[in-house]
Amino acid sequence: MTTDHRARDPYSQLADTEDCGLRILRRAVDAAPNGILITDNTRPDNPIVYANPAFERMTGYTAGEILGRNCRFLQGDDRDQPGIAELRAAFTAGGTATVLLRNYCKDGSLFWNRLHISPVRDDQGALTHYVGIQEDVTREREEEAARRQLLEIVETTPDLVVITAPDGTILYRNRSGLAAMGLSGTAPEPGETLEDLLAPWARQRLREEGLATAVREGFWQGPGALLDSGREIPVSLVLLAHYDGYGEVERLSAVMRAGDSAAEPPSAASSQAMYREIVEAAREGFDRMRREDTGPGFHRLPVDSSGDIAFLDPERVRFFQAEGNYALAFTERDHHLANLSLADLERRLESRGFLRSHRSYLVNLDHVTTLKTLDGQTYLVMDTEQGDRVPVSRRNLDTVRTALGLA
Ligand SMILES: Cc1cc2nc3c(=O)[nH]c(=O)nc-3n(C[C@H](O)[C@H](O)[C@H](O)COP(=O)(O)O)c2cc1C
Repeated sequence: MTTDHRARDPYSQLADTEDCGLRILRRAVDAAPNGILITDNTRPDNPIVYANPAFERMTGYTAGEILGRNCRFLQGDDRDQPGIAELRAAFTAGGTATVLLRNYCKDGSLFWNRLHISPVRDDQGALTHYVGIQEDVTREREEEAARRQLLEIVETTPDLVVITAPDGTILYRNRSGLAAMGLSGTAPEPGETLEDLLAPWARQRLREEGLATAVREGFWQGPGALLDSGREIPVSLVLLAHYDGYGEVERLSAVMRAGDSAAEPPSAASSQAMYREIVEAAREGFDRMRREDTGPGFHRLPVDSSGDIAFLDPERVRFFQAEGNYALAFTERDHHLANLSLADLERRLESRGFLRSHRSYLVNLDHVTTLKTLDGQTYLVMDTEQGDRVPVSRRNLDTVRTALGLA
């Protein structure tokens, strides 16, 4: 007869649970995205007795190379840091500390380490170990510095910069821009919108053309006018749409430059000159078209590269990237500014196997070799020599998959 000893011995059950708990904890520490170190406080100079894989990845050292050493080797010769003194004090007092340190990887490259250390005591309260959690915050610091620099630029530029919610409610406007335009007021009134700042005709243009284009293409540029106590201030206006990870508009920003020539409607004379140039460029282009290809299978796409009309073979165009109200057509050798918006191109090329993968990319599906997902973003890998990658927005992912027969 077999006896289930666990039924009689409650301690064995506990031991099993503890074992299992320890295994789970060990797995969690091994799999943690942050670096984790354990040091042995009972041995001279507090050596490292455990380093998790994330620590190895972060520093380039293998656990075998660092076990038995004090962690200070990560500081190299860069020992004059306020965080080190803080650590020493916490360590001497048997307490915790969170500090920011300059540390160095095995290859000598610098990384910013946000380090937290805390003591581990045994049942008698004696300090036996220390646990350290390391987070590489280098990228965060670089991004923060870039954000600060950008804000400094925005806070000094004479352009008026207005950032709004998708419904146009103003969230931010720069003081230097307001001052340069001779406008008063600092903080926007609650609920004040971008339209409230504009002259009626500029408001209408924004509503009818600017907003829709910016939301669709990411960018719109056109003339506008601010309204200040009944006085119109002509501006050239650039409207940008900022999207979230799902391709939805998260913010809009308007950059307005005072008295820019682009703000004024073109004079009759310059309109005529422009018109003549266009007609001439078109005529020249059509002559070339006749010379180069007269067959019935003619399917070339005329694009206008700074007044020069070029004809591209859609079969050989890789993709188009929106630039303002225009698009860029990339061929094997160069790229051309197409005098069509990405949306127009999409309509014209849809039947030829082109598909919008992302708000700024129109892709010829014949040139897609595979789909790849990195850090949650899916890309189409193209058959170029460099294996160019074109992002796919989440909104378009299913359509792209279906078109590639991967659904
Ligand atoms: C658990 C633990 C983890 C540590 N991790 C690091 C680390 O990642 N980088 C670092 O520069 N120092 C780290 N230190 C700090 C150094 O080991 C040392 O305490 C510090 O340099 C101050 O002492 P010192 O003046 O003797 O060097 C850690 C300390 C402990 C206890």
